[in-house]
Amino acid sequence: MVGKLPEATAVKPQPRRALEELRRDAARCRACPLWEGATQTVFGEGPTGAPLMLVGEQPGDKEDLAGHPFVGPAGTVLQHALEEAEIDSSAVYMTNAVKHFKYRQRGTRRIHQRPTVAEMKACRPWLQAELDTVEPEVVVGLGATAAHALMGRATPIGEHRGRLLEAPLYSPVLLSAHPSSILRERDSAARVAARAALVADLRVAAAAAGAAH
Ligand code: URA
Repeated sequence: MVGKLPEATAVKPQPRRALEELRRDAARCRACPLWEGATQTVFGEGPTGAPLMLVGEQPGDKEDLAGHPFVGPAGTVLQHALEEAEIDSSAVYMTNAVKHFKYRQRGTRRIHQRPTVAEMKACRPWLQAELDTVEPEVVVGLGATAAHALMGRATPIGEHRGRLLEAPLYSPVLLSAHPSSILRERDSAARVAARAALVADLRVAAAAAGAAH
């Protein structure tokens, strides 16, 4: 179980390295206490040189167990949105702002907890290293945590989504809603609208990245 966390200690910025080497090193990361409750580090996946990088919040329950990003319910929503936007998955590198699952144990269930700014900062060198190595044409931040990590400050998605933005970590960044927010919409009409908005944002990103069919 993850209790109250002390301030995370920042790891040093990572020099440019191959993804496999980064993944190996990240597997041993102890820069914040989230590793203690997690099964494993869930590093990003996709080809070096992918024109599009998608950044989520953190691995969920399924991702923590499987060791791969976006393989749970939010991942299914995202895969469908990518297909609808006609984006080839070989053009996409998927990762998260925070690479360990943060949760609260309730009985047998592990309830997702949003990472703190300190945890985001502790994980930022890994994200920076992925950006420097993959060198995508466009980075898509999915949800508030990814937006904060990429923009360097809390950035409301509603005001900024769907446009190419200059960002301190890497540019251009395009912000959109997190696919899990679609699953939380109150009714099917709202879910359809939220999914269409995500697909529209992905289309803008893909066109700018040269990753559209
Ligand atoms: N949500 C995320 O933000 N990332 C994942 O990998 C899975 C769910």
